[in-house]
Amino acid sequence: MKIALIGKDGQLGWELQHTLTSVGEVISLGREELDVTDVDAVQRTLIELQPDLIINASAYTEVDLAETHVGLATNINAIAPGVMAETARKLSAVFIHYSTDYVFDGKNNISYLETDLTNPLSVYGKSKLMGEENIKQAGDAYLILRTSWVYSLRGNSFVNKVLGWSRNNKTLRIVIDQISCPTWARALAEITTQAIATNNANLLDILRERRGIYHLAGSGYTSRYEWAKQILANDPKRTEQLIQTIEPVPSSEFPTAAVRHLFSALNNEKFAGVFSLRLPNWEDALQVALNG
Ligand SMILES: NC(=O)c1ccc[n+]([C@@H]2O[C@H](COP(=O)([O-])OP(=O)(O)OC[C@H]3O[C@@H](n4cnc5c(N)ncnc54)[C@H](OP(=O)(O)O)[C@@H]3O)[C@@H](O)[C@H]2O)c1
Repeated sequence: MKIALIGKDGQLGWELQHTLTSVGEVISLGREELDVTDVDAVQRTLIELQPDLIINASAYTEVDLAETHVGLATNINAIAPGVMAETARKLSAVFIHYSTDYVFDGKNNISYLETDLTNPLSVYGKSKLMGEENIKQAGDAYLILRTSWVYSLRGNSFVNKVLGWSRNNKTLRIVIDQISCPTWARALAEITTQAIATNNANLLDILRERRGIYHLAGSGYTSRYEWAKQILANDPKRTEQLIQTIEPVPSSEFPTAAVRHLFSALNNEKFAGVFSLRLPNWEDALQVALNG
């Protein structure tokens, strides 16, 4: 199987570059090889490559900056995925894309189902929802995997931020009223790869039949405050921490350009039922991520 991976240098893309090699020949494209705002280049590159599977891990993920970079966020998160899905259909290729809990308004008090009403509060959330709609309209054998609170130990993730803050501060103030599912990028890459591997023989037909939106996030849910506490508790270099107190604070203490929803845990049962696969509990995954 020939796989075109778009967005190879992001948290998830970097992990997918490695996991996907177990299921096929991976052609990994970063922004330098393919700027997804250039829709002609997206079509041309994919047609030249003739992949059996296209995976889009690229996205405009700067949630606050998106409020003032609406055009760019729309091009990357909405227009480009539609073009990828359409090109995949023309090539009889499978298309896998990732979306977000930001499509919801966070007013639920139980985990969101795929059938729950969307109502994004931010430009980022709106652009990702538009991407979903464009894929649904143009796509054929596609999966849209909605995930949340993705972290890796590379780059500027919440996990790395908390570890960094802990080296320089005695007190941390972390929001307690935002609740969702921390999702380790490596585990998400692995489960995506497993879903492909277990259906490898007839992927196009199987995914055509199973196409649609699935929630796929770390099992269980927590607040940012509790997540931060667990990050510090699992820190392999705890002796380097200066932290004496972690203070829970409401989101209103940290005004941001984009409105943050409060509760956005995702219910993963549909994916588990259809693919017989489930991401580990967020606490177990965090422990493995930090301690191997
Ligand atoms: N991070 C989260 O908490 C979170 C939560 C829910 C859903 N998601 C979704 O999960 C997926 C993966 O997220 P992630 O955390 O891995 O994102 P990420 O680390 O921000 O990676 C996104 C990648 O997209 C690339 N990109 C941005 N603009 C591009 C362009 N014009 N052309 C080509 N590449 C471009 C970036 O390249 P540069 O490195 O050059 O900027 C980066 O490598 C995304 O669909 C995201 O919306 C993420």
